[in-house]
Amino acid sequence: MCGIIGILGDGNVTERVIDGLRRLEYRGYDSAGIATLCDGNSLDRRRAKGKLKNLEEILENQTLDGIVGIGHTRWATHGEPTTENAHPHATEKVAVVHNGIIENFRDLREKLSAKGHQFLTETDTETIVHLITDYIDQGMSSREAAKAALSELHGAFALAIIFEGEDDLMIGARRGSPLVLGYGTNELQDKEMYLGSDAIALSHLTNRIAYLDEGDHVEITRNSVRVFDENGVVVSREIHTVNTDNGNIDKGNYNHFMMKEIYEQPTVVGQTIATLIDPLKGHVELPEMPFNLAEIKNVTIIACGTSYYAAMVAKYWMERLGRIKVDVDIASEFRYREPVMDDGGLSIFISQSGETADTLAALRYAKSQRQHILSILNVAKSSMERESDVVLHTHAGPEVGVASTKAFTCQLAILACFAIAHAKAAGKIDAEEENRLCIALSEVPARMAEVLNHDEAIQEMALEVAKARDVIYLGRGLEYPIAMEGALKLKEISYIHAEGYAAGEMKHGPIALIDKDVPIIVIAPSGRLYEKTVSNMQEVIARKGQVYFFTDIEGAKTDGEAAIATIALPMLDEFVTPILHAIPVQLLSYHVAVAKGTDVDQPRNLAKSVTVE
Ligand code: F6R
Repeated sequence: MCGIIGILGDGNVTERVIDGLRRLEYRGYDSAGIATLCDGNSLDRRRAKGKLKNLEEILENQTLDGIVGIGHTRWATHGEPTTENAHPHATEKVAVVHNGIIENFRDLREKLSAKGHQFLTETDTETIVHLITDYIDQGMSSREAAKAALSELHGAFALAIIFEGEDDLMIGARRGSPLVLGYGTNELQDKEMYLGSDAIALSHLTNRIAYLDEGDHVEITRNSVRVFDENGVVVSREIHTVNTDNGNIDKGNYNHFMMKEIYEQPTVVGQTIATLIDPLKGHVELPEMPFNLAEIKNVTIIACGTSYYAAMVAKYWMERLGRIKVDVDIASEFRYREPVMDDGGLSIFISQSGETADTLAALRYAKSQRQHILSILNVAKSSMERESDVVLHTHAGPEVGVASTKAFTCQLAILACFAIAHAKAAGKIDAEEENRLCIALSEVPARMAEVLNHDEAIQEMALEVAKARDVIYLGRGLEYPIAMEGALKLKEISYIHAEGYAAGEMKHGPIALIDKDVPIIVIAPSGRLYEKTVSNMQEVIARKGQVYFFTDIEGAKTDGEAAIATIALPMLDEFVTPILHAIPVQLLSYHVAVAKGTDVDQPRNLAKSVTVE
């Protein structure tokens, strides 16, 4: 989603603003721009549709200097992704970059138009610029004008604002969309201050970060920071030293972030499991919970996209192991359904970013229904973290590829631990069973590394699958959500239409789609449901479906011959197979996308952090 960087610099800032925008590319965007305060303290800007390199080309021919600058990567909401609609938006007096949505922009635009303001774009952001300008024209100072304008804006947004004639002032505001404040770190940078939509945007500039709270706005000069809370009271926000090590947002030796992140999974899943399982004691140790796990009567798990598929797996785990009622829901549906929730239930929210607008709104609804709120999050200090009763962190590190991979398997690792801990607390499993499941879970990272050895074989498969127009994924039980996730991964990065189905549903409709041109990816490790899934696979083969079979060594021995291609994954306890089986479907979609030449890390129309509805 959109990204913001602002620098109140000690020297020319243009290159460093562009560098910050490069770090924000991972969020997904369709235009980019920069505004600076140039010689004579006047505002100037450059903007370009498409990728950052287009903006860089413009800057080569039409240079832009300045010691104060703001930059933006835009993911279109109001108005097409054109150069005109790209940020920063500006009048002669003010330039603004903006993440989020101004809900009352039509009313404001009408009022301002009636006063003679001329709007050149279709964006909601341009309204902010004219509103501030209008107040300045009425005689207010820059600070007063920004404050007055902020009080009139409705919606969820983050802003960075600079002003003509003010080379020692930048204003930021956070309402519903995150914004961080960066402090210069060394002698040279002591006189510098920064704003960013996340700490990664500023990782080349500083690791001293303060997170603005919901409703805050901030006035920054090189020597002072004044943060105002939502009531206008001056407050201080703690400075953290964050670890946004540049190495983490580097592709290393890989061609794409997605591939790097797929290969990081044995490490990060291992790290994540190690935060909750003590290998010596062989049991799960959750942090202190603000509720009694044994007394929870029902669980609701809410998320979007890939995180929702993690929720589906957790439902199977918790119901089977802990014998507890678990509802799962897509956040965008849940929030408007206003579901009935029994007092004291547990609501679990899963989100890589911790900023997804629908999930955050669903969290707030659950809170209003007196639910205990547990969130499973990857990005620290996110909005969801602030509003949860308790958080379990996935330790996937920054996930840059828009398609979620390592965050998903880390979410599964946390959810598996939670399901074990709940079942034990509820008296549904004994210490021996807990120990057995913990050992199975601890084996996952090593087995994941073995799965990566199948990369080449999956790449070969991908060359065939890349020719298809439609692809179907089938799985049962714990593998059904993995089939859904496989289909989502394929469509989002290769743009091939794909659907994931419960294998048993095939004959209730989708089987009509089967013909020789439709690859069918069957995910079936040996175990309780194996025979049933293989029967469905045979039904597909009988109709000339092209089956690609992701199974384990046992499954490959008995039925591997039936498929066009078979991948024999390591044997592992049935409980943990979905974590392992996520990898081959990720690799398949990656290689299909590469074969098709699509933009793997920043697929069209997608954003990493979906902070709008
Ligand atoms: C798919 C993908 C998305 C996200 C979804 C939720 O690869 O990345 O479907 O899973 O937008 O995002 P978070 O987990 O940040 O709430």
